[in-house]
Amino acid sequence: MATPGPIGPFPPGVDTPEAQEEYDRLRRRVLWTMPYGLYVVGSRAGERRNLMTLNWATQVSFDPKLVGIGVEKGAVTHDLIAEGGSFALNTVARDDRAIVRKFTKPVEHDAAARTLAGFAYHDGPTGAPVLDQAPAWLDCTVRQPVDCGGHTFFVAEVMACGFTGAEDTPVLRMEDTRMSYGG
Ligand SMILES: Cc1cc2nc3c(=O)[nH]c(=O)nc-3n(C[C@H](O)[C@H](O)[C@H](O)COP(=O)(O)O)c2cc1C
Repeated sequence: MATPGPIGPFPPGVDTPEAQEEYDRLRRRVLWTMPYGLYVVGSRAGERRNLMTLNWATQVSFDPKLVGIGVEKGAVTHDLIAEGGSFALNTVARDDRAIVRKFTKPVEHDAAARTLAGFAYHDGPTGAPVLDQAPAWLDCTVRQPVDCGGHTFFVAEVMACGFTGAEDTPVLRMEDTRMSYGG
């Protein structure tokens, strides 16, 4: 979510509104050069389920096996993860890039057909929805929600995982798209 006006702190000498504006733009461009993967995050609380496009994901520990994801506080996904205590991190096949645009707002759930926005899913062991067409998935239980201001960084333990497609399926990265997030 864009925040109005330049955001501090500013380096020494960046004192005027114009200089702060320029530094804000520069910092955004620098942050955008950080390489990322692209994922679809499955979340669930009770019978409410959602899938959301996300790039802020990383492994954060070997032992225990922890991964972390940064989720906007205003997102439906944020509520579902905070309430349900788990999420599924799904990779996306590189030739399946159109899918990421489908999951940038809350999706319609067809419980009878077991689809979200028309995409087939199944529930992982924690109950979070795993996308049937994900090349690989990680089903995770939240161990530590870290308050980061506009986002929460959910640190979670890998409880189960698997490949759905061929193990060497090329996965989608931010650079394969014209999209950006953050900055
Ligand atoms: C390319 C791309 C990457 C995104 N990455 C993230 C992310 O890392 N974290 C996040 O909270 N939202 C991210 N979003 C925004 C969400 O996909 C979504 O628009 C918003 O958070 C609403 O999700 P909801 O359906 O859970 O309400 C990204 C959007 C796009 C298009």
